[in-house]
Amino acid sequence: KKDIYILAIESSCDETAAAVVKNGREVLSNVISSQIDLHTLYGGVVPEIASRKHVENIDGVIKKALADADMTLEEMDAIGVTYGPGLVGALLVGLAEAKAIAYAAGKPLIGVHHIEGHICANYIQNKDFAPPYMALVVSGGHSHLVYVSDYGKYEIMGHTRDDAAGEAYDKVARAIGMGYPGGPKIDAAAKKGNPDAVKFPRVFLEEDSYDFSFSGLKSAVLNYVNKQKMMGAEIVPEDIAASFQQSVVEVLVSKTIKAAKAHGVKKIALAGGVASNSALRTRMQEACERNGFYLSVPAPILCTDNAAMIGCAAYYEYIAGVRDGLDLNANPSLKL
Ligand code: KG4
Ligand code: ZN
Repeated sequence: KKDIYILAIESSCDETAAAVVKNGREVLSNVISSQIDLHTLYGGVVPEIASRKHVENIDGVIKKALADADMTLEEMDAIGVTYGPGLVGALLVGLAEAKAIAYAAGKPLIGVHHIEGHICANYIQNKDFAPPYMALVVSGGHSHLVYVSDYGKYEIMGHTRDDAAGEAYDKVARAIGMGYPGGPKIDAAAKKGNPDAVKFPRVFLEEDSYDFSFSGLKSAVLNYVNKQKMMGAEIVPEDIAASFQQSVVEVLVSKTIKAAKAHGVKKIALAGGVASNSALRTRMQEACERNGFYLSVPAPILCTDNAAMIGCAAYYEYIAGVRDGLDLNANPSLKL
């Protein structure tokens, strides 16, 4: 059987990334040029700056991905690229590049949904991992519970009604003076704090709902901080971080386990930037062990935005016969 090589490109937010992936699960190269330092100056991602940086970096990143894999463009079987959701100006850079390469080299073009990419990171991490399973996708832009019945077959069980989980981490971090991106900083601070120090709400919504809501929790943290300041009382950032994190994680774990049980699946996968959160990993692992479930978690480098995960998703579309035309357009609010 012939090996399939995919050159993948990802530029939906603030990482310019390219990768070469063999047969879906073997990463031959994974190049990520992060713009985080630049955006940190502004306390968050500035879309216009992201697009410009993608334009500057993308050629070099793609060349390096091919060089690191010790392969040429001619040896690729297809070009995979994220075409949504994300920042439209950022998406357009990667997509235009992918189209140009596909056209010039005469290779098929395969558009990939960014969230599908995040989920597929699990196939790279665990070579035997396969559907059906329940996926919790938590990142700076998304919080979705997705039932994956087969490769490329997704059913959204629930999603956030307001802020994404990572967004809540970032906003709370800013409120307690920890800077951007807040997720890793809260994660680290929480290890030194008491999770029971402050009683923040757990937002479960309606009894039968798999949706999430994090803006109320975020407001509760902000109110608490303001009240403490007003009273001249002490603020212990580590305790706030630990207490906030416990509220988020309890809800994420509980809804994911409930959804898995409801679908009769015994496998759970974490995906997205927040999946590298240590408390989420630990609590989910404990819950899975209690229920006899298997938990798949990608390494942190595969959790945050990267192109290897896009190459994996593109591979499964490729073998399913999916091909996109050069009229493929970026879609900032693409549905899964
Ligand atoms: O998947 P990702 O790189 O980009 C999006 O597609 O959004 O996720 C970035 C998000 C940020 O909000 C960041 O604060 C969060 O993931 N994050 C974390 C951790 N590492 C990254 N959140 C909690 N704990 C972490 N260790
Ligand atoms: Zn992402």
